[in-house]
Amino acid sequence: MEGKKKYALVTGGSRGIGKAVCIALAKDLGYPILVNYRSDSESAEETKDIIVANGGEAEVLQFDVSNQIETNLQLITWREQHPTGVIEVIVNNAGITRDGLFMWMEKDDWKKVIDTSLNGFYNVTKPLIQDLLRHRYGRIINIASISGVKGTSGQANYSAAKAGLIGATKALAQEVARRNITVNAVAPGFIQTDMTSGLDESELKKLIPLNRFGTVEEVADLVCFLASKKASYITGEVININGGVYS
Ligand SMILES: NC(=O)c1ccc[n+]([C@@H]2O[C@H](COP(=O)([O-])OP(=O)(O)OC[C@H]3O[C@@H](n4cnc5c(N)ncnc54)[C@H](OP(=O)(O)O)[C@@H]3O)[C@@H](O)[C@H]2O)c1
Repeated sequence: MEGKKKYALVTGGSRGIGKAVCIALAKDLGYPILVNYRSDSESAEETKDIIVANGGEAEVLQFDVSNQIETNLQLITWREQHPTGVIEVIVNNAGITRDGLFMWMEKDDWKKVIDTSLNGFYNVTKPLIQDLLRHRYGRIINIASISGVKGTSGQANYSAAKAGLIGATKALAQEVARRNITVNAVAPGFIQTDMTSGLDESELKKLIPLNRFGTVEEVADLVCFLASKKASYITGEVININGGVYS
């Protein structure tokens, strides 16, 4: 694997946290970026254009992380088209919410959230892990949530998916550490994105010691650090980034 061109893949890189992570990984660490998205091709192209305008390299890669067949096919095709490339950084960021009290929660809302955040981690990471093991270096960063750490009322599905992702992070970290691959989770609190745009920030910020929602750039800086050589001895960790909120 010596001499291979090294790439970073960010799922859900078209908007929000994922977009900021794509831009930061290209700018700060110089990775060519694979910008994954599900449906919003315009935003994905915009992420790519920003990276290129900053002097970086990027390509967009459309697949739905919750669809194992589609994800597998796209990643295997990418590999065949890039025989001299290796995806050495994987940021499992794609996630959705379908909030509601458990009592009223439909099976579909439970399933879609688990399929995206938790099964998406499996669907994306599984086809890439063997290459990483052979490469003897890698960074896997899973975007979890404060909900997966403490549980959030009205988000039993999302809390379960993110808690599951944290468990998988800790287990996989132990399995691959000998090959110099680190696996960590980042657990954001309230971050200003489309996902939280319906929330009343002026009310909710009273619950946050730092008295504001976080920015996508703040999360991206943390992900960049974990993706860098500077974080070589950190693995199996869950790093909270929430402005001081603890239950
Ligand atoms: N915002 C917060 O306060 C917060 C807090 C804690 C954790 N998080 C987590 O951080 C991650 C990013 O959240 P965000 O706030 O940036 O969300 P967002 O603004 O809603 O963006 C979500 C991104 O994920 C993509 N995506 C969704 N489902 C997908 C799928 N099945 N396959 C591929 N891509 C998919 C979307 O792509 P398309 O646009 O193409 O659909 C979009 O790029 C999520 O995992 C979320 O749970 C967010």
